[in-house]
Amino acid sequence: MSFAQKSLLILTLSVTAFLASCSQADESSAEKKLKSANINLTQLDIYKNPSCGCCKKWVQHVNEYGFQSDVHNQATLSYFKQEKGIQPRYRSCHTAVSENGYVFEGHVPAKFIQQFLLEQPSDALGLSVPAMPVGTPGMEVGDKFMPYRVLLLKKDGSSEVYAVVKSYKEQF
Ligand code: CU
Ligand code: CU
Repeated sequence: MSFAQKSLLILTLSVTAFLASCSQADESSAEKKLKSANINLTQLDIYKNPSCGCCKKWVQHVNEYGFQSDVHNQATLSYFKQEKGIQPRYRSCHTAVSENGYVFEGHVPAKFIQQFLLEQPSDALGLSVPAMPVGTPGMEVGDKFMPYRVLLLKKDGSSEVYAVVKSYKEQF
């Protein structure tokens, strides 16, 4: 191994160790906060139309990640979405609500919901995947996949890009 290779290896290892210690500290403090507030991270109330098939498949997806979902079938959801502060441009088919009141609109992959619930970004309303991109969990059409963004919805009505999902496998 050359000197340059060795230094690169050492640098890589120390950066990795630094990142690992960082995220561990973050997670444990977020988890402590949730535990002390007695918040159940796995409970989701899901509001959907009774005839929505892709919604049912999404419920199965989040259940596979350990969420306990309580499904509420409603013929009309627009009033409910409005009440939750989800503007029309961020809407999709179903709306999931965590025990502490965050919303997850549409076909958001479960791993981003888990990440969000641990981080609980300030001034956030929740996450959204607007419309219904083909290839998202519950929206499988053969092996078709459309890159998409997961949006972080803010309480003031604005949004930020939370994640860019460029391939099918990045969702799991
Ligand atoms: Cu859908
Ligand atoms: Cu749905």
